[in-house]
Amino acid sequence: MRTERIAEFESEDEQLAVNLRPSTLDEVIGQEETKEKLRIYLAAAKNREEPLDHVLLQSPPGLGKTTLAQIIAGELGVDIRISSGPAIEKAGDLASILTNMQPHDVFFIDEIHRLRRNVEEILYPAMEDYKIDIILGEGPNAQSLRIDLPPFTLIGATTRAGLISAPMRDRFEVSFRLGFYKMEDLRTIIIRAGRILGIEVSEEGAAELAKRARGTPRIANRLLRRTRDYAEVRGDGHIDREIACRSLDLLRIDEAGLDEMDHAVLDVLINKFGGGPVGLETLSASLSEERDTITDVVEPYLLQEGFIQRTPQGRIATDRAYAHLGKKTSENRLFD
Ligand SMILES: Nc1ncnc2c1ncn2[C@@H]1O[C@H](COP(=O)(O)OP(=O)(O)O)[C@@H](O)[C@H]1O
Ligand SMILES: [Mg+2]
Repeated sequence: MRTERIAEFESEDEQLAVNLRPSTLDEVIGQEETKEKLRIYLAAAKNREEPLDHVLLQSPPGLGKTTLAQIIAGELGVDIRISSGPAIEKAGDLASILTNMQPHDVFFIDEIHRLRRNVEEILYPAMEDYKIDIILGEGPNAQSLRIDLPPFTLIGATTRAGLISAPMRDRFEVSFRLGFYKMEDLRTIIIRAGRILGIEVSEEGAAELAKRARGTPRIANRLLRRTRDYAEVRGDGHIDREIACRSLDLLRIDEAGLDEMDHAVLDVLINKFGGGPVGLETLSASLSEERDTITDVVEPYLLQEGFIQRTPQGRIATDRAYAHLGKKTSENRLFD
């Protein structure tokens, strides 16, 4: 069993970024509604000297779920135990984590939609009544043992809210859906990160990076670091608009923030399948890419920006996608 620090299962970029994570709610940029609700729930729980209600955080990757979980624990002044759905293999693994927590501690389960069914079933009474039933022994001698747990807060994070079972979802009293960040907020995040990393970034340079960060703080921070490399080697270390543009062009990120993977998806839809509809299976096979990567990482931004649409028959490319690739739509082509 592994309960691990988040850094161990995120990319190298993320390990470097640990010090870029805001550590209090006030340092979190954007997500105003979520912050305001959290402030209220945190203060109320603290006043009543009760654990915070269980919280579900949903968003595409890189929008701040892990950061928020750590901040919640920090604001409550309690410890956080971090694990993830696939890492908890047996009911006993879960039991040993839960019985070893202090009252009001936070237990964070990343990718909670990937919890095993047998583990999930132990979690229900733990969430509801702070109790678990474990079976000791096997066969006719098996005995059920009820254990009281310290009252705790479960924070679940998922990129795929749709894959969480209904009984699991019902046990979260509070649920937040983090949306893509506004350009303005991303610019502030980049300027803040630049200050922490000691990088000189002009307003225009930051704006250019923000524009191409797919609404995602993790990507914004990554583009900033790659562009710092570029600025140090090809410039004087300072990031202005021109350096930002040159670095982003080298990274093949276009003006809409679309990267090579996005282009590959649009290319398959438009050039291989006449604009669609194309099913997920077909898309996945054509791109040699995991279905989960397509649905969790690539599609949310393309949908939000109106480059693709999902229909019951599959994904279709929109007029915006055609225009973006400099192509005529199939309807227009009829009049050629
Ligand atoms: N609201 C925010 N303000 C500033 N930086 C943020 C914010 N949200 C996320 N970040 C940055 O983005 C990175 C990714 O966030 P993270 O919490 O790991 O996302 P998730 O868990 O949703 O994949 C963090 O390391 C942090 O530096
Ligand atoms: Mg995370």
